[in-house]
Amino acid sequence: MNEHDSEKLGGLLEAEGYRATAMVEQADVILLNTCCIRAKADQKALSLLGRLKLLKTKRPELIIGLCGCLAQSQGAEILKRAPYTDLVLGTHNLHRLPQLLKQVLARKKPKLELVEYSAPLTAKPLPVSRNNPYSAWVTIMEGCDNYCAYCVVPYVRGRERSRPMRDILTEVRQLADGGVKEITLLGQNVNSYGKALDNEFGFPKLLEQLNQISGIARIRFVTSHPKDLSASLIKRMAELPKVCEHLHLPLQSGSDKVLAAMNRAYTQAEYLEKIQLLKEQIPRISLTTDIIVGFPGETEQDFEQTLTILKTVQFDNLFSFIYSDRPHTAASEFKAKIPRTVSRQRFQRLLKLQQEIAASRRKLMLGQPEEVLVEGPSKTDAAKLTGRTRGNKLIHFTGSSDLIGELIQLRIIAAGKNSFQGEVIS
Ligand code: 5AD
Ligand code: SF4
Repeated sequence: MNEHDSEKLGGLLEAEGYRATAMVEQADVILLNTCCIRAKADQKALSLLGRLKLLKTKRPELIIGLCGCLAQSQGAEILKRAPYTDLVLGTHNLHRLPQLLKQVLARKKPKLELVEYSAPLTAKPLPVSRNNPYSAWVTIMEGCDNYCAYCVVPYVRGRERSRPMRDILTEVRQLADGGVKEITLLGQNVNSYGKALDNEFGFPKLLEQLNQISGIARIRFVTSHPKDLSASLIKRMAELPKVCEHLHLPLQSGSDKVLAAMNRAYTQAEYLEKIQLLKEQIPRISLTTDIIVGFPGETEQDFEQTLTILKTVQFDNLFSFIYSDRPHTAASEFKAKIPRTVSRQRFQRLLKLQQEIAASRRKLMLGQPEEVLVEGPSKTDAAKLTGRTRGNKLIHFTGSSDLIGELIQLRIIAAGKNSFQGEVIS
């Protein structure tokens, strides 16, 4: 969602006549679009903002803006820390950027623009600056009401609200008319799409409607909450041909005690039941997950239960994080913090196990035919092309540039750590 917001900020700037530059020294405007999900993201953003001070000293006319979740959560604090920042723009009012820039240019000092939570989602999609012409993100809902104990999102993205289905369908039809073939639906908790609208317009219904839009060949979505992943949604995923065989389903921990302390509202058994159902109904499904290591109170036994689940499920990929305290959250008040050295060791053990699992999963793909959406020249080898499978795997292969933007059949001939090599079948 943060990346998609960056595309919107870029789109708004382009609509004002600004152009992107690869040279930071040449920029007239620098916006940092920040994330604050973990402490490290905060630190990175603040240190980058710190480094920009020198540029600003050299060229006082340079406009520096801080946008996104860190801006939303720290607001005025940022201005104390980095008073050379010209504008601080929160998560609820990206559309105000052009106006604010004009004010800064007129040196009328807008500095801070944060709107309280739950501003309704704008019906009109903002202009977007995309790098990939065939694949697009589409926001369907924003905010979160789940209050997982470790998570800052409800405090920076506000209450859960869904976009009306007709607005989403109109946007996707326009994208398809513009040549987009793959869409990724975005929301903090896509499975609860439409909860506040009307029951008959829930997420499975939205998928059905999107599946009918000609020109769109692939539908993906992030992120799903295990508690809201219903049997009827799994059935729809299996039935609808355009919905890709890939699901990111954050587990966070394999221990029921930790899951309860995290306020995740499911048990490991319930999670595994859903995985079982997914594997039965969508045999080719590629599963990925998020794990937090070192949540307050996590014992060695708790952690081992997480490892056991990883072995059982066999995820293709996992994103693992060492727990960090976030402002406002319940867990930041929990006393039984895990020493950093213990968390680090657990993190390494988790990575090692997952590397073995991922390697054996990759082996299974060798020799398999795969549908690939060709994205463009490979970033690592300009003589090759790159595309993505329905399971969201990156594949490099030799082929003519006419194939860019097409859906083709490839066979996987070699597996690397982060990508595959393939050859064209048709
Ligand atoms: N500490 C560590 N990881 C976190 N995540 C969210 N909040 C925290 C935190 N306080 C992780 C979760 C989530 C992913 C996006 O970031 O695993 O799914
Ligand atoms: Fe955060 Fe939990 Fe909401 Fe996901 S579901 S955004 S982890 S509070």
